Amino acid sequence: MCGIVGYVGPREARPLLLAGLDQLEYRGYDSAGISVLKGDTIEAVRAVGNLSALRGAISAGTDTGAVAVAERPQPGTGIGHTRWATHGGVTEENAHPHFDTSDRIHIVVNGIVENYIELKQRLIDEGAMFTSETDAEVIAHLVADHYDGDLVKAVRTAYAELRGHYAFVAMSADEPGLLVGARNECPLIIGRGQDEQFIASAIPAFLRETRHVQYIDNDEIVVVRPEGVEFFSAAGQALPRDIVEIDWDAETAEKQGYETFMLKEIHEQADAVAETIGERAARNDGIDLGDLGTIDDELLRNVRRIVMVACGTSYHAGLIGRYAIEEWSRVPVDVEIASEYRYRNPVVGAGDLVIGISQSGETADTLAAMRTARQRGATVLALTNIMGSQATREADGVLYTRAGLEIGVAATKTFVSQVAACYLLALRLAELRGTLEPDVLTETITELKHLPHLIALMLEHGIENIERIALAHHRADFFLYLGRHVGLPVALEGALKLKEISYIATDAYAAGEMKHGPIALLDQNTPVVVIATDSPVLEKIISNIQEVRARGAQVIAVATEGDRRLEGHADEVIEIPATNWMLAPLLAVVPLQLLAYYIARKRELSVDQPRNLAKTVTVE
Ligand code: G6P
Repeated sequence: MCGIVGYVGPREARPLLLAGLDQLEYRGYDSAGISVLKGDTIEAVRAVGNLSALRGAISAGTDTGAVAVAERPQPGTGIGHTRWATHGGVTEENAHPHFDTSDRIHIVVNGIVENYIELKQRLIDEGAMFTSETDAEVIAHLVADHYDGDLVKAVRTAYAELRGHYAFVAMSADEPGLLVGARNECPLIIGRGQDEQFIASAIPAFLRETRHVQYIDNDEIVVVRPEGVEFFSAAGQALPRDIVEIDWDAETAEKQGYETFMLKEIHEQADAVAETIGERAARNDGIDLGDLGTIDDELLRNVRRIVMVACGTSYHAGLIGRYAIEEWSRVPVDVEIASEYRYRNPVVGAGDLVIGISQSGETADTLAAMRTARQRGATVLALTNIMGSQATREADGVLYTRAGLEIGVAATKTFVSQVAACYLLALRLAELRGTLEPDVLTETITELKHLPHLIALMLEHGIENIERIALAHHRADFFLYLGRHVGLPVALEGALKLKEISYIATDAYAAGEMKHGPIALLDQNTPVVVIATDSPVLEKIISNIQEVRARGAQVIAVATEGDRRLEGHADEVIEIPATNWMLAPLLAVVPLQLLAYYIARKRELSVDQPRNLAKTVTVE
């Protein structure tokens, strides 16, 4: 995900910004840039690639004298950014900072501006000249549009017009020694120094300079000057804020205070889903998937069949996608393990849409399956998290998830993003094909947009119970997972997570199929995790639970909050918030990730790098 850093104070801003960006590298990025105040202008340097490319561009500019300016004492003022491309390709123009037409206001942005298209059109009509394809640039023009010499006021007015999930920092050539930041959902934090201040998307950016931080809450605007920082509500009311001293070492800082990357990434899932949905669901009565290459509305309307090819966790995301696409749009869907599909002489061709789901976009088997389908005349869509990856280069169109870089080998936030992207596609198909009533479509989109909030709530309140269950069962040598309908892929993914990081043998089965085999494995020592969330098949699942308990096994049920039907049936209940039952997998998988996580931790295993596994498998 993108990184932000800003500095105001007596020292030269540029080296501090570059050092800050160095510390944000772990987040992953594909371009970077900084803007610093020089004389009475702002000088921006941006470059595609890593920070050494940016340093090269800076020294090239200095060498040619292109950036020579009158040096006069003034506070160091600057902002920097590492960009992980989402809207628009990896180009210098799309890299941040962005600036307004007069080049007097510069901004760096993380996240997504949902209503940028309408704002951009309005600003263009008023004469603004845009230079990038990004949604972020609109903020620079919008702030400039409201600017009359008071950056704080301009940011506040602009903020009120923006919708989405973002954080940004703005500076003006006319107000040295001032940065104004705004936070709507995405993180932004202040680092307090002696007569100098930092603002960043994550603490590592300034940890070498100060350990005194102030947290910016959601929906707040901060005014950062060398002598101090003021906090305001979006409406302009001044707010008090404590200064907190943190005692992180560099490694903890990279993990944002979490003990592992995996736990950090589990906690980033609300953001990852929110960003993936972003502006695509802005209009509520339908979905806009943006540029899907040659895959246009006509093609989606007439598609004969969808085939998803994928490996590992991505395969499970595809399985959930199948239920949603078939239910909402009535397009038949097959989901195939890529390593099998490629050698099967599959029946596929014109009229079929083949979706390669791959977090990395580099998995050899998935790429080969996509190629096979394309050679036979099918249209191929890549659903991936990595801009410019091989899958994107070989497909007719790309649908990106926006989970940011995932470091833990076991996929978590990329999985929920893939599922969210499948829901978006399913709803778009339903809209184009008229297979959902308009009010049902709108209601489902509204519920989908509410999921990030529900994920955040679960992560805030549900963990203690899961840790306790993990403690009770971490010595088991086998776990069975059961589910039906959309609960089945959740069971498969939960079981995969547990075996990947705890090395406990697991099996995941369609609950109705249990009596045809796995039931033979059950005894009093077997924990059986059952996805028993509210759905039309819940009664059937409860019958399966009874079959399990009749063999003395221990049932850990994942259930919908407040559902009394489970009472007396399960030994342990993990509750998830109520939602549309087709969307419930996005919530139900989170406790299963945590269960696997805490069991692995109790067994003192290295969860970020489990034995024998690789994050990206580029070999067959
Ligand atoms: C590896 C990873 C898994 C991932 C799978 C597919 O096995 O360890 O987490 O699900 O590859 O990767 P992809 O990048 O294609 O989604």
